[in-house]
This record gives sequence, C-alpha cells and structure tokens, in this order.
Amino acid sequence: MWNLKDKVVIISGATNGIGKAATLEISKENPILVFTYRNKNLADTLVSQLKTISSNIQVHPVFCDFSSQDSIRKCATEINQTHNYIDVLVNNAGVVNTSYHETSEGIENTFAINHLGYFLFTNLLLNKMKGKKETRIINVSSAAHSFVKEMNWEDINFKDNFRMGLAAYGQSKLANLLFTRYLAIKLSTDNISVNAIHPGGVNTALGGQNKAIFGRILKILLKPFFRSPLKGAESIVYLATKENDGITGEYYIDSKVAKSSSYSKNLEEAHKLWDLSEQLVGEKFIL
Ligand SMILES: NC(=O)c1ccc[n+]([C@@H]2O[C@H](COP(=O)([O-])OP(=O)(O)OC[C@H]3O[C@@H](n4cnc5c(N)ncnc54)[C@H](OP(=O)(O)O)[C@@H]3O)[C@@H](O)[C@H]2O)c1
Repeated sequence: MWNLKDKVVIISGATNGIGKAATLEISKENPILVFTYRNKNLADTLVSQLKTISSNIQVHPVFCDFSSQDSIRKCATEINQTHNYIDVLVNNAGVVNTSYHETSEGIENTFAINHLGYFLFTNLLLNKMKGKKETRIINVSSAAHSFVKEMNWEDINFKDNFRMGLAAYGQSKLANLLFTRYLAIKLSTDNISVNAIHPGGVNTALGGQNKAIFGRILKILLKPFFRSPLKGAESIVYLATKENDGITGEYYIDSKVAKSSSYSKNLEEAHKLWDLSEQLVGEKFIL
C-alpha cells in the first residue's frame, strides 16, 4: 500500500455520503486531511468524528460552495497558501437536480458544480501537485455518464430540454470522464495520475434537496438495492492507497478498471470540453 502518512489529501464534498465515508476511511492512514464543506455544523461534526479515529490528526476544513466560481477560487487560494504540496485530490462534491437552476455565472447548476467545479478546482491546485514523485487525482463520475450519447454542445445548460434533469446529470458525469482522460494525457509526464470512478448505486443524500415527487418515490423504491456509503467509497480509497501501477486516464468500478462509453474516450470532444470550460471560467490553464 502507498503510505499516506503526512501526505496532503484533499476531498471535496466530505460532509456527507460517499465523500464522508472516504474521508473517514482515508483518515486511518494518518494523512494531513483537507476537506471542503458548505455547512459549518456538518464540518464540525466530521472533525469530531475524525478526532475519535485519530486524536492527533491534522485536519483542515475549508469552506467552498462549488456553485460559485468565486468561492472555488477563494477555497483554492486558502489551500495553496496553507500547504506546500498536494499528494491526492479527490473531486467528489456533486448534485442531482430535478429542476432547472442557474448559478450567478449563468451556468446550469448541475454542470457548474459537477463538471466546472472539478475543472476549476483541479486547475487552481495543479501547481502544488507538480514536481513530486507521485500525485493522484481521483474524479467521482458515474455509470450515469451513459444516460447521454454525447455532450449537448448546442445547449450545454439543457435550458430548452431540462425535463427531470437526468440528461443534465448524465452529461455532467460524462464531462467528468472526458476531463479525466484529457487531463491524464496532459499530465502524463508530471507523475500525476488522473482516474475516475463509479461508486455504484449508493444510499446517500444525493438529490435529497429536490421537491419532485417522482424522484423521491424512485429513491425510496431503489433504496433496498443501494449500497452503503462505505462500500461506495471503496474505489476512492483503493485509488488513494494502492501501490503505484502507472495506470492513468481510466474509469474504475469496484476497484477495477471498467469500460465506459466509447464517446467518453473521444479526445477531440474532450479537447472541445476543455476549451469550453476555460471559456466558462474565464481563465486559460497552460499544462
Ligand atoms: N449516490 C449514488 O448512487 C452515486 C452514484 C454515482 C455517482 N455518485 C457521485 O458521488 C458523488 C457524491 O455524491 P453522494 O451520493 O455522496 O451525495 P451526497 O450524500 O449528497 O454528498 C454530496 C456532497 O457534495 C456536497 N455538495 C453538493 N453541492 C455542493 C455545493 N454547491 N458546494 C459544495 N459542496 C456541495 C454536499 O455537501 P453537504 O454535505 O453540505 O450536503 C455533500 O458533501 C457525486 O459526485 C455523485 O455524482 C453518486
């Protein structure tokens, strides 16, 4: 196993669900833990739980609302100012929306949080990952990436066809895979591996903020078939702690390399997404 002691591990969306389970598991390896939160009470509860696992654990909670690019920038600045290096970044914070909302930047909320959140946060932290013997980026995607065949370039927000948000969610998770593959290639000479995971169907709070009755009923019906957050976190913990095997740009299910849609491997489309993402965050990133 890769020894995480004193390594800096960052996890977004750590105060609930899969991210929380992964954080609690990874904390057993005694890293310096940095996690993002949007609810202070949940962050305080997590810190208390982490201290019961290891009383002298070094933990640094940082506020971040991933629906705001300004908040992502402030969060990344705080991390960059506090830590000299980063060893593992887990992009996990995500949402499912059954109704259409836009961020203050005019971007549909699901795409903004699930894709642009990963894109901007990662790029702002990359300098602290370079120049090390080994660094890992783990993006939490989903089998839902195959809800859509391709990116909806003509209407990336799904403004004209949002319906229950399933396609918007699928597209955001497809974007996670295109981003993973593109970044993996870009960083292949920097000792930084970039991989994605699908956690399985997991019993979490995901989508719990939605009012749509159909979604709520579906969640109750599916609950018995869903796995626990701890089980859902297994591939994240595996990728954070396994020995270096040089694998990058892949998609994992149950801690094994798995197949994703053929479109998710299309590098031209991944490049197009990169360019659009730079445009939407108003910044170019030279890798
Ligand atoms: N559950 C599944 O079956 C499933 C399947 C495939 C993939 N996934 C993926 O797994 C990841 C984690 O989801 P989950 O199931 O663990 O859901 P969850 O229990 O709802 O956890 C989501 C996490 O993201 C955070 N978050 C949501 N919106 C945010 C925002 N605007 N700014 C900052 N943080 C925000 C939440 O913060 P709070 O703690 O404050 O709510 C929470 O910590 C997501 O990327 C999701 O797409 C889940």
